[in-house]
Amino acid sequence: MTREDATLRVGDGEYELPVIVGAEDEVAVDINRLRATSGVVTFDRGFANTAETKSAITFLDGEQGILRYRGYPIEQVAERSSFLEVAYLLSNGQLPTRSQLDEYVDEITHHTMLREDMKHFFEAFPRDAHPMQTLASAISALATYYPDALDPRDPWAMDISMKRLLAKVPTMVAWSYKHSCNQPYVYPRNDLDYVANFLHMMFSFPVEEYEIDPAVAKALNVLFILHADHEQNCSATTVRVVGSGHANLFSSVAAGVHALSGPLHGGANQRVVEMLEEIVAAGGDIAPFVARAKDRDDPFRLMGFGHRVYKNFDPRAQIIKRYAQEVLEKLERDDPLLAAAMQLEEVALQDDYFIEKKLYPNVDFYSGVIYRTMGFPTDLFPVLFAIGRMPGWIAQWREMAQDPTTRIGRPRQIYVGEGKRDWVELEKRADRS
Ligand code: SDX
Repeated sequence: MTREDATLRVGDGEYELPVIVGAEDEVAVDINRLRATSGVVTFDRGFANTAETKSAITFLDGEQGILRYRGYPIEQVAERSSFLEVAYLLSNGQLPTRSQLDEYVDEITHHTMLREDMKHFFEAFPRDAHPMQTLASAISALATYYPDALDPRDPWAMDISMKRLLAKVPTMVAWSYKHSCNQPYVYPRNDLDYVANFLHMMFSFPVEEYEIDPAVAKALNVLFILHADHEQNCSATTVRVVGSGHANLFSSVAAGVHALSGPLHGGANQRVVEMLEEIVAAGGDIAPFVARAKDRDDPFRLMGFGHRVYKNFDPRAQIIKRYAQEVLEKLERDDPLLAAAMQLEEVALQDDYFIEKKLYPNVDFYSGVIYRTMGFPTDLFPVLFAIGRMPGWIAQWREMAQDPTTRIGRPRQIYVGEGKRDWVELEKRADRS
């Protein structure tokens, strides 16, 4: 589909700007030459109207609630794939053959161990350190253990670093958790698949194996898949921008973990459960929380609600909600938090404020209820998001690094500060108090 060029009129000037049309008919005005030809720049808080890159990895349609990984609908991928198969798909662009998948899984499996020295690393942190901080630091530290495999322009280095990162993150998370509980580390096992291995390292003891419930492993596999990528979200953009300066993969992804830790982003799943616990502790009356969320003078927000892109529903939230009910039923648990969450959703979706602002449950709204049922501590929920998002960050970073049109990320600004003025010596400065 082609579109006529766009015409921009600024003052007396009129400028023709090329138009780009995406594979799903998204239309963009190409402003790469805007400042050079017109002297003006654009102003766009949070890049809400700005595409910095062309990407072939993930497609979202916020109005239709569509999410596809390399063209495959999330509903099919979640039900029919495995997390490592999705990781292969996101980075390589095509579903693997049986031999390709077996080789990929085998390589990841044989990189799950950490250098023994890293134990001292985890032990240097307070036992109550937030695991997102520990994870970001541990991922940064990988760059110090593999200095020969950091060059973003070396295909061998990038391939091995991507596999090491994907393979070692669950071990890092489990070992930092064991340190926080003052329990012995549990080593990975090569006879377990990726998700089962993570559960084993998290919940086994040297004296007793954790018995892996297939329903729990399946639900965690689906949750990781649902979190695997989400195009140019806050943390993926962070990974791309840091990598655009030719920083190595580990440094770029560590920055992504920090971006994800924010409560408006991946930190929301922890805040949702804390909010639901507060509601249940207050007797289950959700009205005050909904009222606060609507009060413009109150900074409180309904955590797990709203999204920059999805304006009808988040397809992931719908799948997670179903799994939350199934896992609780399978484990014969009756968690009051799920009932509170479902009641909150029902009330909010009938409230004009949420309807007008198009606020619906997002991926973080129900995920914490499942994680809690599986036995994960609340502060580990954002880390589980990070494990799931690892293949997406890797794929986005790889696409950026391999794109010959990539430029170092360096936005413009509109200056609103003081005009030119001369320096005033200390003795001559008037007291402003
Ligand atoms: C993720 O981008 C991604 O794809 C992210 C993600 C991914 O997979 O990577 O999907 C993961 O980060 C999900 C979002 C998790 N965050 C939360 O659940 C925190 C609560 N939600 C928000 O704070 C908010 O909705 C955001 C951050 C998600 C979106 O922010 P936007 O797009 O900048 O929207 P906004 O803050 O401008 O909100 C628009 C209006 C505002 O009201 P007005 O100023 O126009 O009067 O809606 C209101 C907001 O006050 N609003 C909310 C609200 N979210 C938005 N009001 C109450 N409760 C909320 N949750």
